[in-house]
Amino acid sequence: MVSDYYSTTLIDHFEHPRNAGAMENADAEAYVTNPVCGDSLRLYLRIDDGRVAGASFLSSGCPASIATSSAATELLVGLPLEEAEALPRERYAEAVGGLPRSKVHCSVLAASAVRQAIATWRQQRPGEGGEAGEPQARGG
Ligand code: FES
Repeated sequence: MVSDYYSTTLIDHFEHPRNAGAMENADAEAYVTNPVCGDSLRLYLRIDDGRVAGASFLSSGCPASIATSSAATELLVGLPLEEAEALPRERYAEAVGGLPRSKVHCSVLAASAVRQAIATWRQQRPGEGGEAGEPQARGG
């Protein structure tokens, strides 16, 4: 959904971010920046038995990026890694009640961070999270 305003859900996530803060001994981590505006997101994941068991984040970004990052930490928990990394940015935007037209790109940070964190986790643990004998790193 695209509108010209922040939804009440987005404002709630911005004013009361869920799972904000660094995660000690995280299993996976990613730092991503938006080259257009310079906003950044550091995402931490706890991974257990092929699923996201926990997530937290630190953000230096706009309200939309903070809200979508907050929503991401709730959406991800319990998902198998394959489902987590397949979530499109639109899913994070939906989770905050949609984004204003000028802020649609802000949900890219969360989606990129999730994919990067999981990809890095796989690269660091050959033999886990992928098919035996197949390369662990994925392109795209
Ligand atoms: Fe930079 Fe929103 S304006 S991520």
